[in-house]
Parts: sequence; structure tokens; C-alpha cells
Amino acid sequence: MIIAFVQTKGGTGKSTLALNTAFSKTIRNVFPSICLVELDQQGTLRKWWRRRDPNNSAYGNIGFYHISSDNKDEILEEIEALEEKNELLILDVPGESVGKFHTKFACAVADMVLIPMRTSTNDEEAFEDNLLPIIKRIIEVDKESRDVFYIIPSFTHPLANRQNIFSYFKDVMPDYIHCLNAVFSFGSVFENFSRGGNNLFEYTRSVKSNSKLHEQGKKAINEIELIAKEIIKVR
Ligand SMILES: Nc1ncnc2c1ncn2[C@@H]1O[C@H](COP(=O)(O)OP(=O)(O)O)[C@@H](O)[C@H]1O
Ligand SMILES: [Mg+2]
Repeated sequence: MIIAFVQTKGGTGKSTLALNTAFSKTIRNVFPSICLVELDQQGTLRKWWRRRDPNNSAYGNIGFYHISSDNKDEILEEIEALEEKNELLILDVPGESVGKFHTKFACAVADMVLIPMRTSTNDEEAFEDNLLPIIKRIIEVDKESRDVFYIIPSFTHPLANRQNIFSYFKDVMPDYIHCLNAVFSFGSVFENFSRGGNNLFEYTRSVKSNSKLHEQGKKAINEIELIAKEIIKVR
């Protein structure tokens, strides 16, 4: 199976969600082998992965692969080879500034496309201009892909009413773009966890002696697991 985190707008949480859902208990329990695949030439995740402790064997079933090519056939070949060796590929796709090619590619190849997006007219307009035309074309060619595209409401206020957020997206989105029944809320822990190549789970263990940070970490983990559970439910 291939899951892609896609959004032509940068800084919406794609990489943060891609790496932390890959390490979530929920996803690891379902998929015996997982590969986190970065299609971003900037290599944000590659830098993060290199900082990781090579002795960390707790996540033996999770690998990382960086694809730097911008040749469609080469990328497809690499993805197919990875698919043979892994039950799940999680693709992290760059924002628009690097080029829309990767987004198109990921939308076409993935079994599930997750789109982190804020409840703002700014994000909506960017979505309509950039991502929506790509999705429309895919749906036109293949009607079955109507159940592939899911918004993840991102950077939501921690106290916001979830039902209001879900109905907001239901109202503004075409019927072939669903909204995941989970949110990715704003939290400083998501700005801090990745130092030293940590994932959210490792970070939270490392701040055990600081009760405030530890609580924040546990809450964030809970949220990531809820997102992962919804991904498993609708896949
Ligand atoms: N839920 C969140 N709350 C607060 N900050 C976040 C959250 N998710 C990500 N961030 C921060 O926002 C920035 C962009 O996130 P990132 O995952 O790299 O986005 P993208 O991959 O879409 O460009 C990073 O600095 C990250 O630490
Ligand atoms: Mg990114």
C-alpha cells in the first residue's frame, strides 16, 4: 500500500505527519514493514534521518529512502522496487516551490492521499488553484479514485470544536474529497520533537522528567495515533 502526504502549499505539516504516523503504534501493528520515502529534493527528512541514532533498533521495521530524481520513469522504478520489499510506503512530497511534478506523481500512484490543510480561505484558494485541478483530472480518468483523497484538518486550535471543522470541509470541498475524522492540532511540541533525529515518541520519552513537556508529548502522541487509526479505518 502507498500513502502520500500531499499539499502544494509548504509548511502545512506534511513531513511532520508523514514521519510520525510511520512510527505510530497503530501503523506499525498493521504493517510489518514500512518505508518512509522522501520525494523532496531539499531532503528535510534525509537530514533528520541521518541525525537518528543508528543503534536505535526499536523501530527495526521502518526504513527510509530518499528519491532525488525528477525523472518520472526513474521515480516510478524506485517506488516499484520499494513496494516489493515493503508492505507500506509513506511518501513525503514537497510543496509547490520545488515543482508540481511530484505532487501529480504521488496523487496518481498512491492508494490514499492525505492533504493537511488549515480552515482558512488562504489555504482554500491555494488548494483550488494548485491541487484541485490535479485531483479532478485523476478522478476524470479513474472514477474509482473517488475514495483516495482525504483532508487532514491541520494546525487546528487545540480547543476547537472538531465537528465544526469537519462540517466546514464538507461544505467547501467537492464530494470526492473526504475529510479524515481526526485533526492535527497546533502544538509547540511539533516544532521541537525532531532535534537530534528524534521522532515524537522518542522525544516524549526523553522529556519524562519534565512533567509539562511530557504531558504535551503524550497528548501529541494520542493525536497522531488517532490520525493513524482513521487512516487504517478508511484504507
Ligand atoms: N501541529 C503543528 N503545530 C505546530 N507546528 C507544527 C505542527 N506541525 C508542523 N509544525 C511545524 O511547522 C513547520 C512545517 O512543518 P512541516 O511538517 O515541515 O511542513 P511541510 O512538510 O508541509 O512543509 C515545521 O517547523 C514544523 O515543526
Ligand atoms: Mg515537507
